Parts: sequence; structure tokens; C-alpha cells
Amino acid sequence: MKQKKMLTANLKPGMISAENAYTYTNHLVIQSNTTLTADIIDKLKYYAVKSIKVYVSDENEEPISDSATDLSVNSASGLGEDGSTYFDRVQQTKQFIEFKETFGKSVENFKSQLNDIVLKSSSEVVDDMLREVDNILSQTRNSLHLLDMLQCLRGFDDMTYMHSMNVALICHVIGSWLNLSKEELNTLVLCGLLHDIGKLRIPPEIISKPGKLTDDEFELIRSHPKTGYDILRPKNLDKRVKLAALQHHERFDGSGYPHHLSGSEVEYFSSIVAIADVYDAMTSNRVYRKGMCPFKVIATFEQEQKMYDPSLLYLFMNRTIEAYINTNVLLSNGDKGKIVLLNQNILSRPVVITDTKTYDLSKDFSINIETLI
Ligand SMILES: [Fe+2]
Repeated sequence: MKQKKMLTANLKPGMISAENAYTYTNHLVIQSNTTLTADIIDKLKYYAVKSIKVYVSDENEEPISDSATDLSVNSASGLGEDGSTYFDRVQQTKQFIEFKETFGKSVENFKSQLNDIVLKSSSEVVDDMLREVDNILSQTRNSLHLLDMLQCLRGFDDMTYMHSMNVALICHVIGSWLNLSKEELNTLVLCGLLHDIGKLRIPPEIISKPGKLTDDEFELIRSHPKTGYDILRPKNLDKRVKLAALQHHERFDGSGYPHHLSGSEVEYFSSIVAIADVYDAMTSNRVYRKGMCPFKVIATFEQEQKMYDPSLLYLFMNRTIEAYINTNVLLSNGDKGKIVLLNQNILSRPVVITDTKTYDLSKDFSINIETLI
């Protein structure tokens, strides 16, 4: 999507920022991908931000407006009085509806490609697979936008194909935050696409069995990393792609399987897939609450932080949560407020202000963030 620099004086509510805006002392005022409201434009003026880039349409270079389907959670009047949540509003945007369609088609194509790779030689299929990923990526403005969209993409049956595509896309997000080259990024995306290929050999009724698994079924499921590695081993693929299939359930503290590897014994790309895999598992299967609140996801990662590569995990948590500064939230005591400050030591517990009170959640553990509103 094209971008254009605009003077703050000429900004209109509904336009969408295409870059982060900072004060001259380097404090973040708004994130890229924010739908502007009158309040936000005032805030930019107040902090003397002279101009920012906004998204414009490819055809006539007019600013794109999100006003009809306002994604903004920042406007004073938009505190979710109609009961809609942040993710409800994401789901109503035109971009999301188009994204969902592209995603559906790409997952369909990917499904046959993944089955092909089990049977045929890999090189051609690999290019086709990467093309499907590029297709989906071209529908999103930036990494965080993509994560928001994925959060909303529930309701497909959550089988191996969709999960693998999600993990590949999340790997792409993490890889771009690590500034990987295009070639490395492709390899990492392939790690994501193929990590669970071993599950194709497990009967689907066992994978989606709702009740408790028998010991044999459990063992069969736990064999999928090894099975996947065996499928990929003879193929002409980067070693890291094969290892990601084998190692994505290994954990940094040695608590994973199949080989209880720890620390740097686990290939770097496998550690990235591990985080993407867990993130997708946490945010999927949430039929009853569309989109798990990102702060709960981060809180879970914080509790389990020993299990992941610390620098990767910190980067992932920091970059995801940074997007929600200025967002309105509902607290567990019923109060509604806005996130104003992130605590770098406990990212899941920021400072929230309401009309009358300031909550420093890093000091008060009796209150949690329930949802984004
Ligand atoms: Fe897996």
C-alpha cells in the first residue's frame, strides 16, 4: 500500500498512520497503523509532531479512510459502549474481510502443496508455498496489523494446515523484527510451514479428539516431530527446515521433547518456531472469546519464560505489546481506562489510567486486564 507524508494540520479523523510518530525527545506518541481520531490529531499537535506518513490509495493517492469501520480504540467516545470489543471492530473492517478470503484460498492451496511435498520432490512445491505466504502478506499493512488479523481469524477448523500457515506468518513477523535477509526469511517461513508435517501421518480423529487421549494416542501425537523429520530428511531443503520439524517442541530449559535439548543445542530457527507455535496455540481455539487479550498471552509467556530463548521472547513480547499503548481496556474490577505506560520488567502489567484513577498493574496484582475495548 502506498504512503504519503502529510502535515499534521491537514490530517483528518479516519486516516491511518503509516509510521510511528515520536516527540523530539524520542517518546512514542502513536504507533504505525493507528486510525486517527480528533483526539489523536490534537495529541500530535500538542507534542509538536509536524507531519506523519499516512496510507493512500494506489490509484489516486487520496488518503485511505477507516472512518466507516473505525478500528480506533483511542477516541474518547469509542469506549465500547455498544459492547463491541477491539477485535469485533477489526473483524468488521474491509481489510479483514479481504484478508480472510485470501487466507482461505491460500490455506486451500497450501493443503494440496503440503500433501505433495510428502510424495514428490520439494523444490517446485516450496516456491509455490512461499508464493501463498507472500499473497497473504501483501494484504496486510505491517507486522502488527497481521497479528491482529490472525487473532480474528478463528472459526476455520483449526487443523494442521491453518495452524502451519499461521505459524509461518508469525515466523515472518519475528524474522522481520530480527532484520533477517529475504533469503533467511524465506527459510524461516518454510520452517513454520513444514514444522508440523509429521501430523499428516496421524489420523485426524486423534488430532482433534476432544476427550482425553489414551497413552498410545498420546505417544503417537508426541512422535510427530520425529515423523516430520523423517519425511523431510531426504528432501533437498535447508537443514534448519528439517530441524525445525524435529525440534519445535524442545524447550530452552530442557523440558521439551523428543530429545530434551536445552539452550543453544536447539537450532535458532527452531526456537523461533517454538514461540510462534505456542503463540498460535494460545490465541486459537477461543471460539467463545474472539481473540484472547494480548496481555493475557504475554502474562502466560512471562510465567513460562524459562522455556524460551530469552532474547527472542523479550523481542517478541516487547514488539507485540508496544502496539497497544494508548489502547482502551476493561479491567477485572469493571473500570475502563487507557494504557499509558508499559513497564519493561513486566510487560503484561502496564499503567492504566481512568477518568479518576491511575492503576500501576505492576504493583497491584489484584487487578488484571480483561479485554481490549
Ligand atoms: Fe508440533
